[in-house]
Amino acid sequence: MTRPGDATRHYNARMEKLRIQGGRLLSGVVPIGGAKNAALPALAATLLTEQEVRLENVPAVRDVDTTCKLLQQLGVTVQRPSPGVVVTRGSGSTDSEAPYELVKTMRASFLVLGPLLARTGHGRVSLPGGCAIGARPVDRHLDGFVRLGAELRVEHGYVEARCSRLRGAEIAFDVPTVGGTENCMMAATLAQGVTVLRNAAREPEIIDLAMLLKRMGATITGAGTDTIRIEGVDQLHGAEHRVIPDRIEAGTYLIAGALAGEGLELINCCPDHLQSVIDKVRDAGVQVEVLADSLKVTRPALTLPVDLRTQPYPGFPTDMQAQFMVLMTQARGRSVIREAIFENRFMHVPELHRMGADISIDGRSAVVRGRTALSAARVMATDLRASSALVLAGLLAEGETVVDRLYHLDRGYEKLEIKLTAAGAVVQRFRE
Ligand code: UD1
Repeated sequence: MTRPGDATRHYNARMEKLRIQGGRLLSGVVPIGGAKNAALPALAATLLTEQEVRLENVPAVRDVDTTCKLLQQLGVTVQRPSPGVVVTRGSGSTDSEAPYELVKTMRASFLVLGPLLARTGHGRVSLPGGCAIGARPVDRHLDGFVRLGAELRVEHGYVEARCSRLRGAEIAFDVPTVGGTENCMMAATLAQGVTVLRNAAREPEIIDLAMLLKRMGATITGAGTDTIRIEGVDQLHGAEHRVIPDRIEAGTYLIAGALAGEGLELINCCPDHLQSVIDKVRDAGVQVEVLADSLKVTRPALTLPVDLRTQPYPGFPTDMQAQFMVLMTQARGRSVIREAIFENRFMHVPELHRMGADISIDGRSAVVRGRTALSAARVMATDLRASSALVLAGLLAEGETVVDRLYHLDRGYEKLEIKLTAAGAVVQRFRE
């Protein structure tokens, strides 16, 4: 699958930057792509069968490239015959080691362990370790595998898991985990007997994964609620599946529209998945028109301050916290944003200070005082969603903003500068 030039492209992306000339109004149409966070578990799920799986609406982002590379390493043939389409075919002799070099760049690589264990009885996957937005352990994934009958050993930075055949079990998560729910749900599809996941994550990406697994022959009920029941089967088969739209990409452009939109239209999205974000954006006085699969947004004359707290779905997503904070710099008054999912997810704040924002951090809360006129600066992306927040700030700031370390942004946003340019922004990728 690896397309010629992939390695060079990634190398180049390390030195690429984005130049944004702020102050333009945004209008026209932004097409929303497939959800990265649904595509990654779907790709991992293809390890559960030797047959062909065809996924559509897969975004062309770096995390997808990394996952495809990982699948190849595990013996899967991966083809990308046309934009948005990934076709996989497993081999009889699956290799079962996910190396540190790939896992360290993307924590979602850990999602291959459940499928490997279930299908081959063995998996050796590097522990993801810390990342920019906090410790992010995988202990809840591992507890789940142990309950399913796996034996685990942690050695040399790797988790090695073995089992003869997994057995269905009750797994109660103390706190919901998206990746843990996905990993255990995939593993349980091939276990002997019934597995019940309690206090499961309810994100739309979980429902999408369950949909794919069901198309592959799995028996699953309750995805999207906090109790998921999986009846194990002997084997899964090939399937075709279309990945849901990316709610975080849509949410990011929704904030762009709230900051600078004049009837900016987001198409091919799923407004239902964005309800908590739409509600908060409306509370800020922004006009949002909702249709079946599109949104239209216009900035308000006066932006109002709004307090929020990030929560598991259907609450306000942590992946939209940084972007919403940029909107709050434009609100007249004080707003308090509490990050309840991850520790250390305010790394965009010092960069926003450099653009003139008035934000103070008190533990897990950020207090934003607005309105402040933002001014262009050279800023550095620190993680995926923080980098999109800097782009949003750049769209508004007076002068030329340069966003460095674009490789964070490229992990999860497809054709960002092309989409923004089409909407009237002045954004350019360049190398220095
Ligand atoms: C997924 C998303 C990510 C999003 C996050 C929360 C993907 C690929 N990534 O990440 O974009 O920000 O959900 O919505 O879908 N935790 C533990 N032990 C575990 C697992 C998690 O303590 O075994 C903690 C994490 O550190 C975090 C919280 O639980 O504080 C939630 O994490 P989780 O829902 O697992 O997030 P991810 O699946 O990693």
